[in-house]
Amino acid sequence: MRIDVVSIFPEYFAPLSVSLMGKARERGILDIRLHQLRDWAHDVHHTVDDTPYGGGPGMVMKPEVWGEAIDSVCAEPPPDAITPRLVVPTPSGRRFTQQVALEYAAEPWLLFAPARYEGIDSRVMAEYASRLRVDEVSIGDYVLAGGEAAVLVMVEAVARLLPGVLGNANSVTDDSFAPGPMQNLLEGPVYTKPPVWRGREVPEILLSGHHGKIARWRRDEALRRTYERRPELLTAVQDLDKADRRALA
Ligand code: ADE
Repeated sequence: MRIDVVSIFPEYFAPLSVSLMGKARERGILDIRLHQLRDWAHDVHHTVDDTPYGGGPGMVMKPEVWGEAIDSVCAEPPPDAITPRLVVPTPSGRRFTQQVALEYAAEPWLLFAPARYEGIDSRVMAEYASRLRVDEVSIGDYVLAGGEAAVLVMVEAVARLLPGVLGNANSVTDDSFAPGPMQNLLEGPVYTKPPVWRGREVPEILLSGHHGKIARWRRDEALRRTYERRPELLTAVQDLDKADRRALA
């Protein structure tokens, strides 16, 4: 998968060379290309922002600079002349979820356009919506200082879904928000050795070797934890059976 990121802080993306994503890049699973937005600004100060029409606080990112940047990144297409999906992080976007991460993981090419200040002149998104798929997405109901951290979050969520990135393919299918038996259930507690630590014991069932009982226990814990911490998720869980209901009683 190819991922381009255009930003005034390309150095913000150093973590994309670490750990899982660093290895995915070394192995050629991820082709990440970082670009400095200011390279497409032509004045001596490499200006990328200006005051907002209509007044108000802050600055708005200029359409000409973003237009040249996006045109130029799109002009170096991979062999089969595909176009990227353009992803613009913004707190006013549609919510980024595991479902969206799965969608993005199936794309051959993503182009991220993280903004600083009050955002990008809206005509940029309108212009490219006629040529590309454009998504304005939010990673949550809080406001970051810029879209860069949101890009890091999204790239990591997408990268770990790519075949060959995680050691154990089951780690992806067991995800809380992935389609499957655990969908919309928060994962319950996990334990490792030693069996007793500061007087606290690992639940006996996990030492029993009884796979059926362990699976039931894990589901019960997931149901209880979801009920306590994110009750709104439970309404989306299909087909609670009798044992499930007992766990929640
Ligand atoms: N930029 C600033 N806040 C953001 C958020 N919550 N999600 C995505 N991009 C953002």
